[in-house]
Amino acid sequence: MCGIVGIIGKDLVAPHLVEGLKRLEYRGYDSAGIATLVAGKIERRRAEGKLINLERLLVTQPLGGIIGIGHTRWATHGVPTERNAHPHATARVAVVHNGIIENYAELKAELTACGHVFESDTDTEAVAQLIDFYLGQGKSPEDATSAALKRLHGAFALGIIFADRPDLLIAAREGSPLAIGYGDGEMFLGSDALALAPLTQKISYLADGDWAVLTPSSVVIRDREDKVVKREVRLTQLSGALIGKGQHRHFMIKEIYEQPQVIGDTLNTMLNPASRTITLPDLPFDLASVKRVTIVACGTSYYAGSVAKYWIEKLGRVPVEVEIASEFRYRQPVLVPGDMAVFISQSGETADTLAALRYCRDAGLHTVALVNVAESTIAREATTALLTQAGPEIGVASTKAFTTQLVVLACLAMGMARANNRLDAAEEARLSQALAEVPARIAEMLRGEDNIRQIAEDVAQARDVLYLGRGPCYPIALEGALKLKEVSYIHAEGYAAGELKHGPIALIDDHVPVVVLCPSDDLYDKTASNVQEVIARGAKVIFISDAEGLSKLAVKPMASFQMPPVDPFVAPILYAVPVQVLAYHVALARGTDVDQPRNLAKSVTVE
Ligand code: F6R
Repeated sequence: MCGIVGIIGKDLVAPHLVEGLKRLEYRGYDSAGIATLVAGKIERRRAEGKLINLERLLVTQPLGGIIGIGHTRWATHGVPTERNAHPHATARVAVVHNGIIENYAELKAELTACGHVFESDTDTEAVAQLIDFYLGQGKSPEDATSAALKRLHGAFALGIIFADRPDLLIAAREGSPLAIGYGDGEMFLGSDALALAPLTQKISYLADGDWAVLTPSSVVIRDREDKVVKREVRLTQLSGALIGKGQHRHFMIKEIYEQPQVIGDTLNTMLNPASRTITLPDLPFDLASVKRVTIVACGTSYYAGSVAKYWIEKLGRVPVEVEIASEFRYRQPVLVPGDMAVFISQSGETADTLAALRYCRDAGLHTVALVNVAESTIAREATTALLTQAGPEIGVASTKAFTTQLVVLACLAMGMARANNRLDAAEEARLSQALAEVPARIAEMLRGEDNIRQIAEDVAQARDVLYLGRGPCYPIALEGALKLKEVSYIHAEGYAAGELKHGPIALIDDHVPVVVLCPSDDLYDKTASNVQEVIARGAKVIFISDAEGLSKLAVKPMASFQMPPVDPFVAPILYAVPVQVLAYHVALARGTDVDQPRNLAKSVTVE
């Protein structure tokens, strides 16, 4: 969370800093700011709210300078006001920061006692003041930074400039991702390679504890002991073009509609439609030797893992544990070396998921990353990376990343089943065929968008909404509820349909819509009975099923939505889509900020 960017070079930097921030706005949009050096002085422009406010400010109050740093904020310490917006600065030094300085209160007290005056409520200002303190003792900017870094606890990616050193930009990383970009007579830093893509394709990633001294013509990286180290410079494949919304009003709906394409692209990497077989990327271990699978993730990615548990256990008969990363990392889980741990993350940067990966790696597990960003930290640190081909996901609420994760997990489940001699060729062909048809079935389902729009008008009036599902559609009910909460701000909960009568049924009345995901599978009758129970109590049921399922339902729901018939194996992938579309239209009806919902950020790099 929070995006940072820095440039030292030859041209006016302010427009490039803003361009970089646009590409990082997915990390937070509470406030934004930039600082540059103009005639030996640090000049700042900062604005509360989205980046557009900073852009407007820069029109009336432009900023010169050929060295500068920029920041887009997801507030952790201090409310999102201009005063708390980065960069934080003294007369001598300015700092942008992504992460959390855990000992900032201590540092602040110490520095205040030495006469430093703080002007914000942020943890970051302690970094600026601490470096300033060491500068005041006569240290050089490099030595002052090195001394300050050794006093910081927590997670940080920092960009630092100094009033009297127009030839110097310092970057530092501990926990939060940071990339260095190499130009010709100019150098860059950024929270990710995407931010730097219009400026350079040559990137290196700092390791934890690294800090780098950038001049227009050189980069020197040091580790936490201040020893000079080399970090590989690679060519990023990321495009410098800003991603547009096409003919769509929002990224969320554009990305929903991209699903047939990106699921097809993802399947192409693993599924051979002619032989109807799947091929997993080479793994440096034998899948058959895995006695237990641990899946760790957060949010929507966690729900993808929860679906995979049903698939892997059913097909491969290997036990699976699915864990929320923030719980897992502090739970001291019992792990067996040689087992496989899978880390699912769209961004590949989620702090808790990354910490869980490191925990499992240290415990001797095979670590497999399932990510959408090939160059992300989680992809780089895992033994093996499985990639979704969703393309950049800009809408903060995850849609296409989720369904492509499901597709890869379905292939992984098949691969495990085959490795364990539990999937014969005929079954593999049947399941492969079902997967190969998913893009077409989603395209077919999306033709019913208008029906969902009508249902959404009703749901938009509700205060609470329940989602029910069974088997692998239970995690889809959870995901449906999360999508609705995120983008419409309506309270929603997902439940296993059979769990309803153990408590949540008390919530049912004629004001609470109940969205039921009920494909025709071997659990259909069970879920249909639960629907009868809630309708008998006045619930407004929105029943989502295929033609057969709709015709068999003995009671009349308030509304229904007809899905294409599919093999139950792929039903969770398909049923994820109508709940995305429903959340989108409810959000539209309520006039919320669909692509950048309040309080959220796309990449959660703090725990
Ligand atoms: C919800 C959503 C989040 C993310 C979660 C994990 O729409 O996007 O719940 O799934 O923050 O993020 P990643 O997958 O990047 O690790």
